[in-house]
Amino acid sequence: MKSVFIPLLVACLLAATPGLTAPAKPADNATYSELVPPFVLVNADRRDHVSLSGPWHYSVDPYKDGMADFHGKPYDVTKGRGSDVNVEQAMKDDPDVFYEYDLARAPVGTVPSAWIGYSPELRYYNGLMWYQKSFDAPAKTGERQFIRFAAADYKTMVYLNGHRLGEHEGGFTPFSFEVTGLLRPTGNNLVVAVDSERTPESIPTQVTDWETYGGIIRDVTLVTTPKTFIDDDFIRLTTDGHIRADIALEGDSKAGQAVEVSIPALKLTLKGTTDSEGRLSLDTRAPKTLKRWSPDAPTLYDVTVTAGADTLTDRIGFRTIEVKGTQLILNGKPIFLRGISLHEEEFGPNPSRRITPEASRALLTEIKDGLHGNYVRLSHYPHSEITTRMADEMGLLVWSEIPVYWAVKFDNPDTLKTAQRMMAENILRDRNRASIILWSVANETPISDARNQFLTTLAHEAKALDGSRLVSAALLTQTKRVDGHIDITIDDPLIPELDVMAVNTYNGWYGSDKIADVPGTVWHSSFNKPLILSEFGAETMAGVHDPVREGRFSEEYQATYYKDTLAMADKIPFLVGMSPWILKDFRSPRRQNIWQQGWNRKGVESENGQRKMAFFVLSDYYQKKADK
Ligand code: GCU
Repeated sequence: MKSVFIPLLVACLLAATPGLTAPAKPADNATYSELVPPFVLVNADRRDHVSLSGPWHYSVDPYKDGMADFHGKPYDVTKGRGSDVNVEQAMKDDPDVFYEYDLARAPVGTVPSAWIGYSPELRYYNGLMWYQKSFDAPAKTGERQFIRFAAADYKTMVYLNGHRLGEHEGGFTPFSFEVTGLLRPTGNNLVVAVDSERTPESIPTQVTDWETYGGIIRDVTLVTTPKTFIDDDFIRLTTDGHIRADIALEGDSKAGQAVEVSIPALKLTLKGTTDSEGRLSLDTRAPKTLKRWSPDAPTLYDVTVTAGADTLTDRIGFRTIEVKGTQLILNGKPIFLRGISLHEEEFGPNPSRRITPEASRALLTEIKDGLHGNYVRLSHYPHSEITTRMADEMGLLVWSEIPVYWAVKFDNPDTLKTAQRMMAENILRDRNRASIILWSVANETPISDARNQFLTTLAHEAKALDGSRLVSAALLTQTKRVDGHIDITIDDPLIPELDVMAVNTYNGWYGSDKIADVPGTVWHSSFNKPLILSEFGAETMAGVHDPVREGRFSEEYQATYYKDTLAMADKIPFLVGMSPWILKDFRSPRRQNIWQQGWNRKGVESENGQRKMAFFVLSDYYQKKADK
């Protein structure tokens, strides 16, 4: 089954995971297999597929009636809503039989999208939702078929033609189920239960500062592959100037299979044969003609991997990223990250987390062309692969994170497994994206031994899955007053496990410090590592002005806050970049004052893209930095 290419993984994970000792390999496959997805289906968005997106029936189930009887005794769902019964026909055939649900005649909503946009009464609905879709699937003899969800928030259970395919936990990463042999030429009955409810054990927990966009929020596809197929490939430029390709096949004839990786534009073809596990590593010195990918020149190459009857293409940029002391080095040269943070929420007054290529391009264009930026923090969870591919194409460096956010249950082994799975799914989906330079394991988490161990495990896993990128986390710091100035020491015990330090800082907005004190802030770090200001920001509603008093929630306050914080940033000797909080106002149920009305107003743009005064403070600052 497993065909993920991670030779280092077992050793590192077992070493880093508390309580797990490194026994003989066979016995411990269980642990390893719990953490990586059964199928990676790398680049599935570029494979032969049928889209199952579009109109789906949906039906609310606030009491989870489809899962358990009135005494809470769990049902066999394949006998209930997950069954293959055509309710309308069954009630016609036998007047004594009746059902109290009928998914095939329930209201219709568009997938992908959060159900928040389906009808006003679903505005704050958090709970279980049943979806149903009928589709035809002409038989594909001799091939394999998978139903792939690019993401569904939060817990998903899937049924096809009365068969339980499986379940998935996590709102932002892809998962697939093999359906070879389960399909019928017409009228396939796909039933999906999505429960958006978070728990204290979930990732994230119930309390965040963003809207819970429950539902099937990204594309659903029926993917077809040959019997033996390329399940995973990891192709990149290494810091010693080599092009390396790690390939993993899945299927009966994965062993001893001839594989070719070709990059026509470089007149380069690497050839080899897989080992008994269906794996192969290929390596060659990069040709001198190689144009490295960078934000200023986002060169992508067409790459084709061929193995037996399978051919998989991708568009890949080749670049290196590393740290040297307190510097961040892209393609051998120091770089400063001119960035901003972003939630996955399209522009407009009524977003429903429907990220199309157009919506993604609109957001990233504001960063690249509007702010003269070269970097984006995709917060606080893996964003759509539409966006990471868009960043590759447009030339924006990316920070990618999993939602280990605030007070996660760090001492709960199941919560750790959930986070490890999310990390694996995220990295395995996107490790061919040149734009991504940083994997982040957490945001603003309270320090404790359990937390330190939890995050150390994730940092090790990220390194094991992908040694070509940097690991970081958005940390909090101690702020104190020394001789009248703000004094900040970066001393989080997790830092030795990180390549890059990152700090969220809100002096001048949260806390008692005045904006005017911010430029005089002194930063201390005993770590010879680069720092990113992963967040800073202040709120204002676009159009609210107070030129004289510059009161809070006025554009003037936010603009001055930016001026002073950027002045502070200029004095931090080991600073290599920033991603102010945030590009646009976004929905947050925690924000309810007269200016906020359910929105976090720290955007430098409104939810409709109206640029605030601070937008221009930041774009001027980045223009000057870019010109240097
Ligand atoms: C935190 C947090 C964000 C939040 C922001 C804010 O730093 O990471 O998710 O939205 O602060 O308070 O606006």
